[in-house]
This record gives sequence, C-alpha cells and structure tokens, in this order.
Amino acid sequence: MAERLLDAMAGAAARRYGGEAVSELEHALQCAELARGAGADEELQLACLVHDVGRYAVDQSLVSDSTEPMPAGPRARGHHEVGAELIAPWVPERVAWCVRMHADAKRYLCATEPDYFGWLSAVSRHTLRLQGGVMTAAEVARLAGYPWLADALALRRWDDDAKVVGKATRPLDAWAPLIHRFFDR
Ligand SMILES: [Fe+2]
Repeated sequence: MAERLLDAMAGAAARRYGGEAVSELEHALQCAELARGAGADEELQLACLVHDVGRYAVDQSLVSDSTEPMPAGPRARGHHEVGAELIAPWVPERVAWCVRMHADAKRYLCATEPDYFGWLSAVSRHTLRLQGGVMTAAEVARLAGYPWLADALALRRWDDDAKVVGKATRPLDAWAPLIHRFFDR
C-alpha cells in the first residue's frame, strides 16, 4: 500500500489542486510541512500529507464534491469521506478521523469564526456549498468536546494555507519513511 500511495502522490504532481494554482502534490507537501513546522506530531503530519488522498487516488466519478468536470450521477460521498475510508485500515483512528473531518472543519470554522469565510479561496467557497454549507448551531454543538477536534481544525488551517505558488518544500521522498512506517503494516 505504501508504494501505491507514493505512486499516486507522485502522479498528483501533474494534477492541479482543484481550481487552485498549485498541484495536488505541492498542496499535500505544503500542508504536511506547515504541520511539521508547527511542531505537530507524526500522526497529524501524516494526516496533513494524505488529507486529500480522496482527490488523487480515487476515481473522481465516485466523489460528490469533485472539482473536476463530471457527468451528473448519484455520488453521495465527498472526497474527505472516500479518502478516509481508503486509508483507515492502515492508520490510527485519529488520522482517518482528521482526514474525514477536513471538510466539516471548514464548515465548523465558517460557523464559529466570523472572519474565516472571508479568508477562503473562491474554490474553497464553492466546495463548501457542495459539502453542506456552514454548520448549524446544532452541528457545532455535537462536535464540542470531541478529543481530536483541535487536530482537525489545525489541519484545516494548514490546508487553507497550503496553496502558495512556487513555495519550496522538502520533496515527496522525504516523507517516504513515514508513509512506509504506517502503510507497510
Ligand atoms: Fe486540501
């Protein structure tokens, strides 16, 4: 699985990240690097690295919030859910949960932080609608006290910032040992 994942990530270098100006791979590397720079532990760094695996390692015809042009069809699940399911057998529950939550974390932050929506890119605002829109007060209340909520919100902020054109990061190879440690099991 580690090799398949690394291959998919290498292939993501040729894919634009949604409608953003960076590639899927650049976005993943920037997100993981931001987590690492902020002192996040390895599990959270891994979650950041693979959070969009549902975009580049999964047939996008299965994904309801794909930013690729797709024929209409019954696609019930977002890339975050499909991606979390893909990695769940190999990673700690916390990692899969943070990946699954990264769209809901945006919906949560839109509901709880007045300025957050204004910082989102146009693409991110578009997918917000596909992902259910701003959370209701009841949805926010349901998440209160959840042990990994802070991790998921941190991932989301790094995700939002990981769209800088031309930013230098360590290469994918630098992350291979971490990927192997979890996905070779
Ligand atoms: Fe992302």
